[in-house]
Amino acid sequence: MVREFYSRSVEETREYAQQFATGLRPGDVVCLSGALGAGKTEFMRGIAQVFNCGEQLSSPTFSIFNVYDGSLRGEPVTLHHFDLYRMESPAELDTIGFEEYLYGPFISVVEWGEKFHGVLPRNAKKVFIESAGENERRIVIDG
Ligand SMILES: Nc1ncnc2c1ncn2[C@@H]1O[C@H](COP(=O)(O)OP(=O)(O)OP(=O)(O)O)[C@@H](O)[C@H]1O
Ligand SMILES: [Mg+2]
Repeated sequence: MVREFYSRSVEETREYAQQFATGLRPGDVVCLSGALGAGKTEFMRGIAQVFNCGEQLSSPTFSIFNVYDGSLRGEPVTLHHFDLYRMESPAELDTIGFEEYLYGPFISVVEWGEKFHGVLPRNAKKVFIESAGENERRIVIDG
């Protein structure tokens, strides 16, 4: 199922992300695509709010990969957030243990995941964001 939304502010983008996130379950992978500054990280922040993610755990690769310890209705939920913008090859992905952090009982959100669509599971949920004006964004959700 493909859904399309128009957001007029950061807050609205986060609200769409929150609605989307209520359907996520551990094991799900989300591929967030769109140009630099489209709003992928803002969308991710909306997802993180749903799972009550507080402070980031420290990570040596914090700009590429972050782990959040969250919860949903009292149950622990782990969120993995990747930003593959600077990753250049599947071999480089291996150096951060990408697949080990992608598959498991956690929710994985991958910015720039479309660069490595061969590595992502076929059933990854796809979110595409593009600018439609200074503060407007078109959000397309597939999955
Ligand atoms: N409706 C909107 N939704 C989301 N962001 C918006 C919106 N309107 C303006 N913005 C601005 O667009 C920028 C989005 O930045 P964000 O870091 O989320 O982009 P990104 O897609 O993650 O970029 P990058 O590829 O560099 O990681 C922010 O500066 C935000 O304030
Ligand atoms: Mg980003």
